Amino acid sequence: MTTQGNETLYITTAIDYVNGKPHLGHAYEKMATDAIARAFKAMHVPTYFLTGVDEHGIKVEQNAAKHEKSPKAYVDELTQSFTQLWQHCDVAYDRFIRTTENQHYDLVAQLWQRLLDKGDIYKASYEGKYCTGCEAFLNERDLNETGHCLVHKTTPEIVLEENYFFRLSRYKQPLLDYFESHPDFVQPAFRKAEVVNMLENLQDISVSRSRKAVTWGIPVPNDDEQVIYVWIDALSNYLTGLNYLHADDALFQRFWTTADGHPNAVHIIGKDILRFHAIYWPAMLMSAELPLPKTVFAHGFITLEDAKISKSIGNVISPFEITAEYDLPNADTLRYYLLTCTPFGNDGNFSIQDFKLKVNADLANNLGNLLNRSLSMVNKYFEGDLPVYDANASEPLFADLQEQTALRDAVELAYRAYDFQKVASLLLERVDLANRAINDLQPWTLHKEGQTQRLAALLYSILEAVRLVAILFQPILPNLSQDILNQLGFGTHAFTSFQDIDGLRFSQTEAHRVNPTGPLIPRLDSELVGADKKK
Ligand code: ME8
Ligand code: MG
Repeated sequence: MTTQGNETLYITTAIDYVNGKPHLGHAYEKMATDAIARAFKAMHVPTYFLTGVDEHGIKVEQNAAKHEKSPKAYVDELTQSFTQLWQHCDVAYDRFIRTTENQHYDLVAQLWQRLLDKGDIYKASYEGKYCTGCEAFLNERDLNETGHCLVHKTTPEIVLEENYFFRLSRYKQPLLDYFESHPDFVQPAFRKAEVVNMLENLQDISVSRSRKAVTWGIPVPNDDEQVIYVWIDALSNYLTGLNYLHADDALFQRFWTTADGHPNAVHIIGKDILRFHAIYWPAMLMSAELPLPKTVFAHGFITLEDAKISKSIGNVISPFEITAEYDLPNADTLRYYLLTCTPFGNDGNFSIQDFKLKVNADLANNLGNLLNRSLSMVNKYFEGDLPVYDANASEPLFADLQEQTALRDAVELAYRAYDFQKVASLLLERVDLANRAINDLQPWTLHKEGQTQRLAALLYSILEAVRLVAILFQPILPNLSQDILNQLGFGTHAFTSFQDIDGLRFSQTEAHRVNPTGPLIPRLDSELVGADKKK
C-alpha cells in the first residue's frame, strides 16, 4: 500500500478568527487535520499542511476596540495563544499563515484584479442585513421569526451601502456541473444535498464593505473607500499558503497543479462554513481560471458537557486547562478522545466523565498496562533482554499477535477515510488479543513450569504487537507512540514513518534490551477544576 503513484496531499484547516482565545472546537479541527497529515506523511505521500489565523473583519476590529488596543496589537498578542496551543497539541503544520502578512495582501489584491478583469466584479448599491457574528449578509432563511440570526440570535445590522459585487449567480450551473462530475467534492456525502440546496436562488454577493463600516481589512485596489470582504480575504489564504503569484511558487506548482487538473487539495472545515468553501471558493477559483480542490470536508461541532461552546455561556475551556488539570505533559489523551468520540463528520460531545473513562480504559489500562506488565516480565524472567524469536516455538496465536500486513493495510485505509474510530478499534483489537494471550497462557505459570522457550516466544510476540500498534497510532498519539518505542528499546529518535514497521525490528540475532521507564500515562482520577462551578 502506502503511496499511490504521483500522489500528493495539500491539506488545510479553517483559519480561526482571532477574536478570542482558541477553544476545544478549534483544537478538534486542528488535531484531526494534523492526524491526517501525519498519517499521509507516514505513508510517504508528499504532504503540505497549512493552518493559520483569520485576523481581519468587523468582529476582530470591535473586540480590539473593546480591549482598547489597535487591531494589529490585538491580533499580534492573541495569535500567539493559537500558535502556543498548537505546539502544546503537537499540531505539526508545515506553514502557519496570518492574513495580516504582506504576502497575503499582495495575493488578495492580485486575485481581486483577476476577478475584475474577468468582468465578475461590479459596483452596485445594496441594502442588506449583516451579521457580524457570521461576517456575512443574511437571507430571509438565515433569520428566525423575530428577525434574529439563527446562529448568533442577534439582530443583524441594516446596511445601505454602495459595494462591489461578485457575479456568483453566473457560476450556478458550472457549480452544479462540478458537483455532478465530482461526487467526492463535498464530504461527508450526507452534506451534499445541503450544498445543492444553497444553489437555489443563488444571488451575487457583496465582496467589499465601506471603509466607514470596517477599516480593518485589505483595501480594495484603486478604491480608498472600500475594504475587501473578510471571506474573500480569508478563503484566498489557501493560495497564499502555497506562494501562489509569488516569485518562488514551487509549492503551488507542486500541490495545486496536477496532470488531471484536480489537485489533491483537501479543505477540512466546520459544518457552519460549508457555504463559503463549497460555493464561494470554487466560484472564485473558476472566475480566476484556477483548478478546484478535490475535497471540502465538513466536520461536526463539539459540545462541552452537551452545551454549545460559547463565550456568552462562559464554557470556553482551552485544551491547556484540561491537560494542566491532570498534569499531562502533552495533549495525546485529548487528541485520542476527541478524534474517537464521534465519527469524523458528525457532531461530538466532550464530557469530562467520559474522557476519563475512555482514556483510563483504552490508554492507561489496555495499552499502558500491556506495555508495563510485559516489560516487567522481560525484566523479571529475562533480566531485561528480550530473547530472539525462536521459530521452533511458533504457534498460531503468536503468528496472530505478530501479523503485520493485514493490520497495516486496514489502518492505512482507515486513515485514508479519516476514520479515526476505525484506526483505534483496529489497534485496540490487537492490544486486546495481547492482553488475552497473557491471561490465557499465564507467563508466570510457563516460568514456573520451566517452559522458557514458549515464554520467550510469547513475550516476543506481545512486544511485536505493541511495537506495531505504537507505530500505527503515531498520527493520533505522537508522544505516547514515541514513548512506547523508547520503552521497547528503540531509542528516542522520531518515529514518523509506517515503514518503521519493517525497519525498526527486534533483532533476529541477539537479545534486545528493553527500556521500561514506568507507566505510559497516569490514570485520570481528579475532577476538572471549576467543573462543579459550571453546573
Ligand atoms: O469561521 N466544534 O473562524 P472561526 C467544532 N475565520 N468546530 C468548531 C467549533 C466547535 N464547537 N467552533 C468552531 C471562521 N469550530 C473563519 C474561517 S476559513 C477560510 C475562515 C470551527 O474561528 C469552525 O467550524 O469562527 C471553523 O472551521 C473553525 O473552527 C474556525 O472558526
Ligand atoms: Mg465561527
